[in-house]
Amino acid sequence: MIEIFKADECLTSKLTAFSNQFFDEKWSESSFSNEIKKPNSAVFCAFYDNEIVGVACVENQFGDGYLHNIAVDDEYRRQGIAKWLMDKCCEFLLSNGVEKIFLEVRKSNTNALNLYKKCGFETVSIRKGFYANPTEDAYSMVLEMKK
Ligand SMILES: CC(C)(COP(=O)(O)OP(=O)(O)OC[C@H]1O[C@@H](n2cnc3c(N)ncnc32)[C@H](O)[C@@H]1OP(=O)(O)O)[C@@H](O)C(=O)NCCC(=O)NCCS
Repeated sequence: MIEIFKADECLTSKLTAFSNQFFDEKWSESSFSNEIKKPNSAVFCAFYDNEIVGVACVENQFGDGYLHNIAVDDEYRRQGIAKWLMDKCCEFLLSNGVEKIFLEVRKSNTNALNLYKKCGFETVSIRKGFYANPTEDAYSMVLEMKK
């Protein structure tokens, strides 16, 4: 059975190893540890049999939400885990008085784009050359949770 929890510090090492499989911009253990400790941030982990199979990290940045990252293990995709993680992120931010969540996504990342559209995000702008290795534009998207 899949379960989702807000991460605590003892998960830092596993979380870093899991997350860095998916993103060009690698986070150090101390970056994760800081996010876990910050009262304005939350890292949610999906578990199956005590193993991390998904992660999402959001932050309340001066009243606006920001999704830093979200990823699900290849073998557990298309089961609604990312949507569930997003719902947890939205609940956390709403309970912090946040009404909007912002994110960037590579233009070519169709899976993530579809996920964000399904969650209600809308594109607000294109950020030219936002990503490196390879260079690519980003869609800037926003979800207005109380709309
Ligand atoms: C994007 C990602 C997180 C989706 O995880 P997931 O658990 O498979 O997503 P869900 O099962 O919750 O899917 C929710 C919706 O997203 C969309 N979606 C997800 N994967 C898709 C795919 N392979 N093809 C098309 N749409 C897809 C669909 O709209 C889906 O709804 P549906 O299944 O009812 O059609 C996952 O593919 C991933 O980890 N990718 C690598 C990391 C990444 O790119 N993260 C985002 C950038 S930070």
